[in-house]
Amino acid sequence: MEKRDRLYEGKAKVIFATDDPNLYVQYFKDDATAFNGVKKGTITDKGAVNNLVASRLMTILEAVGIPVHFVKRLNDREQLIRKVEIIPVEVVIRNVVAGSMAKRLGLPEGQPLPRPILEFYYKADALDDPLVIRDHVLVFGWATEAELAWIEQTCLRINDVLIGFFANIGIRLVDYKLEFGRLASQPGQVVLADEISPDTCRLWDLVTGEKLDKDRFRRDLGGVVEAYREVARRMGLALDS
Ligand code: TMP
Repeated sequence: MEKRDRLYEGKAKVIFATDDPNLYVQYFKDDATAFNGVKKGTITDKGAVNNLVASRLMTILEAVGIPVHFVKRLNDREQLIRKVEIIPVEVVIRNVVAGSMAKRLGLPEGQPLPRPILEFYYKADALDDPLVIRDHVLVFGWATEAELAWIEQTCLRINDVLIGFFANIGIRLVDYKLEFGRLASQPGQVVLADEISPDTCRLWDLVTGEKLDKDRFRRDLGGVVEAYREVARRMGLALDS
């Protein structure tokens, strides 16, 4: 596999083509943004830690039968992934009240939910990724009914796996964001895409409630990369590899 042109640069990652039209390289940057790019920063080593964490989580999900775009981790910053057409809907899965939902509904952060809530956000930077409802996704054709039903069911399966995985290492999976895409090599097949990492999750220490995720950056709490490293350490990942 040979890395070719840079195709797309996002806020935290860069996508490169390869000599195989169905495979891309996903590069993890140290850049961090919040509030749709209004707050910007660089967190030394974040990209390497997120690549390790995200690679392991994708491997675990694939092992339990979730189709993923991830192929393998190539080096400290890069993953080989399958080419997908990203479905322009971010799915946020919430197990505990926090973040924008706490603010929108005037609820205290930390209240456990009786069942997971799935929210949909339309991926549109110019609109600040607005919260949308299921009918918007269908009527505007961002996903078909069959794709959306599969995504919802798959999110709940992923949630069951990840809640247990994180609880085992003393972490409460509060909420997180997932993205899905259609495989270029097999357009009818939807797969989990993007990344799952402390950038895209709220992860709280099960006992102390300490935040081990990007809220440390969003809320200026300090110790951002240290918290990300703690997640990797609890996952048994060696950071110097
Ligand atoms: P929120 O409470 O700000 O809506 O965020 C919910 C979860 O989704 C949280 O774990 C952070 C994650 N998230 C992203 O990964 N990317 C985003 O652009 C946003 C807004 C949230």
